[in-house]
Amino acid sequence: VSVAWHARGNGKKMRRRDKWLSEPVRILATMWFDPHTISFEDDPYPVYRRLRDEEPVHRYGDTEPLWVLARFDDVSAAIADWHTFSSVGSTCYRGGEIDQRQLITTDPPVHDALRRTTREHFSPKAVAALEDSIRAETASLLEAVRGTESLDVAGAFAWQLTVAVISGLLGIPESDQAPLLGWYQARTYSDDAVRAAEGQADFDRYFDELAAERLARPTDDFTGHLMRLVEAGEVDETDAIALLRDVFEGGVDVPANLIANAVLALAERPEQRAHIVQAREDTAAARLAVEELARFETPIQYIPRIATADVELHGELIPSGATVLLLLGSANHDERQFEEPELLDVTRRATRTVAFGAGVHFCIGAPLARLEARLALPELLAVLPEYDVVEPVRRPRGDPVMRALLSLEVAR
Ligand code: HEM
Repeated sequence: VSVAWHARGNGKKMRRRDKWLSEPVRILATMWFDPHTISFEDDPYPVYRRLRDEEPVHRYGDTEPLWVLARFDDVSAAIADWHTFSSVGSTCYRGGEIDQRQLITTDPPVHDALRRTTREHFSPKAVAALEDSIRAETASLLEAVRGTESLDVAGAFAWQLTVAVISGLLGIPESDQAPLLGWYQARTYSDDAVRAAEGQADFDRYFDELAAERLARPTDDFTGHLMRLVEAGEVDETDAIALLRDVFEGGVDVPANLIANAVLALAERPEQRAHIVQAREDTAAARLAVEELARFETPIQYIPRIATADVELHGELIPSGATVLLLLGSANHDERQFEEPELLDVTRRATRTVAFGAGVHFCIGAPLARLEARLALPELLAVLPEYDVVEPVRRPRGDPVMRALLSLEVAR
């Protein structure tokens, strides 16, 4: 169980957080909003609709209640107001045991200083320079499966692409990528506690060692850049390592799920697939398609905040100190904002979604993730003019935050 993909990072804290989140969920087992049920994970949208219509501010859990915001306007307003809906203390950082500052658990001005370190390597301009390598990686992955009758579009394509791309940016050698991905997936998605703990330990150790190596011999990649800032005393070493882990996590997991969910959603919509393939040289059209796919199956379903004051909304009182979950997946399906939200339309001008968050925490990887999806998806669909998803589709259990697909077998 985790509150947000980016909060999983840090061993013992993760277990603390698991405890406080999962307990009220188990006790109450509410029919309203229980992200831990299989039916919710398979199809959260009817629950979201009910929340938006009947209880847009929903309190859930007894001992340590959580507050859930479901409508687009409320979610957007909360994301924009970091003074009232703070990231400090959200996720695993309850109880003031802070020993690392992460982007997602800080507010300005600490947040600004950390965030500045990413500006150079994640800007749209820096990311545009990766276009050729993303195209080459896509082509080589598709070449490897040429002529096969079935293909795991998640495990053998999307995750392989994203691990290669973010590793290039971080300077992670090719030979380390497969084991690192294995540790990452075990630690994040395994329901075997021992495997998950081992994965966590190996994953953490890897970044400690990478940082130490780059401190000794700085390189031109993002890791080297961060370590130079550490050397100059501008960034704390622990914070820098946490940032590396978070960037790897966001860079691998979220865009892989964006691409895999897109293939799943498009399985029943051949005309939309054809549009994406035909529009691949039309950057504007391809961009719109990616935004719509991110809206339709929002990879990060919700993000946590802590209310810093009593907030009255729709007749409910959210008390100061409460944890508030902002349901991005619901906001992106709000009929008050989107016409026919349950309709996937890759030509829709869904440019104002909350798929990548907003405000000071707006996703730093958005330009890169959008580029990866825009370049890779049409190429993948072009080699799959006809396909059927092999049932059953299994989402990993135990992490309802992410609409995740570790494997998605399609037959052509
Ligand atoms: C290259 C891929 C990606 C990387 C490296 C990345 C990295 C990050 C990082 C480091 C943050 C924290 C920013 C901050 O707190 O200031 C963030 C935030 C966020 N990212 Fe990404 N991300 C990637 C892809 C995606 C994708 C594909 C989505 C969804 C479509 C996404 C959704 C979000 C959201 C919703 C937040 C806001 C979290 C919050 O406000 O609490 N990310 N991302």
